[in-house]
Amino acid sequence: MTDRVAIVTGAAQGIGRGIAHRLDALGHRLVLLDRDAGALTEAAATLSRPATAIDLDVADPDAVSEAIGRVARDHGRIDILINNAGISPAHGGRSVAVEDIALDEWDRVMAVNLTGSFLTCRAVLPVMKAGGWGRIVNFSSMGGRMRSLLSGAHYAATKAGIIGFTRVLAGQVARDGITANCIAPGRIDTPQSRSFGGDETFLAQLPAGRLGAVEDIAGGVEYLVSDAAAYVTGTVLDINGGHYMP
Ligand SMILES: NC(=O)c1ccc[n+]([C@@H]2O[C@H](COP(=O)([O-])OP(=O)(O)OC[C@H]3O[C@@H](n4cnc5c(N)ncnc54)[C@H](O)[C@@H]3O)[C@@H](O)[C@H]2O)c1
Repeated sequence: MTDRVAIVTGAAQGIGRGIAHRLDALGHRLVLLDRDAGALTEAAATLSRPATAIDLDVADPDAVSEAIGRVARDHGRIDILINNAGISPAHGGRSVAVEDIALDEWDRVMAVNLTGSFLTCRAVLPVMKAGGWGRIVNFSSMGGRMRSLLSGAHYAATKAGIIGFTRVLAGQVARDGITANCIAPGRIDTPQSRSFGGDETFLAQLPAGRLGAVEDIAGGVEYLVSDAAAYVTGTVLDINGGHYMP
């Protein structure tokens, strides 16, 4: 089925923008959330149908609850939630030492990557339950699945934590027709990953021999939000060109 109402966070650039394009191509009605108002308007304008674009910080509880309430009122339902917004502070392309992580930075990474996903899930669940159908995709990372030379401990903690959060959620809502899964991308070519540099060393170790494209991630989202994935819940889909094989 197409013409579902789909919310994508962090949709102004990178992976989120690619996901929005894929869901738009599939015929869904898009709601784009991002803190970058200018890039968000530009991203919404590139879709084939009018989209709702709301600039907000996903870590702001009032803004999230107001935005989701507005989407529910305007569209009458919410079917798909993609929690893609995330930050990974760059520290010269290396994993920052734990003793060098400032508390402010730690708190901000927790707030955006973990609390942000909790806030959007909490807000959409009553609407999805009322509709008897829902698809939630949360964003983990290879950095939350294995030791990474790039990720800081704060980033890794949020990306491992989102997997535990998603499992509990999936168990709670399975009988409401709602699935909740994670995607854990490897290194994908986006503005965030470009800020880390060091591609040659990484590519030499990577079975696929290339960085991932946003379309590789969009393909995973397309499957997880489809009717074909109705019996897939509480899982982590690793999309990483063979770098991590659990
Ligand atoms: N690119 C990679 O290699 C890679 C690898 C593993 C996981 N991921 C994860 O995939 C997701 C997307 O990554 P990306 O590379 O496209 O990132 P990106 O930095 O290129 O884009 C992230 C988008 O999220 C928005 N955003 C950030 N904080 C926000 C907030 N507080 N509120 C609202 N919007 C906010 C940004 O404005 C931006 O548009 C993230 O969760 C990231 O951790 C990416």
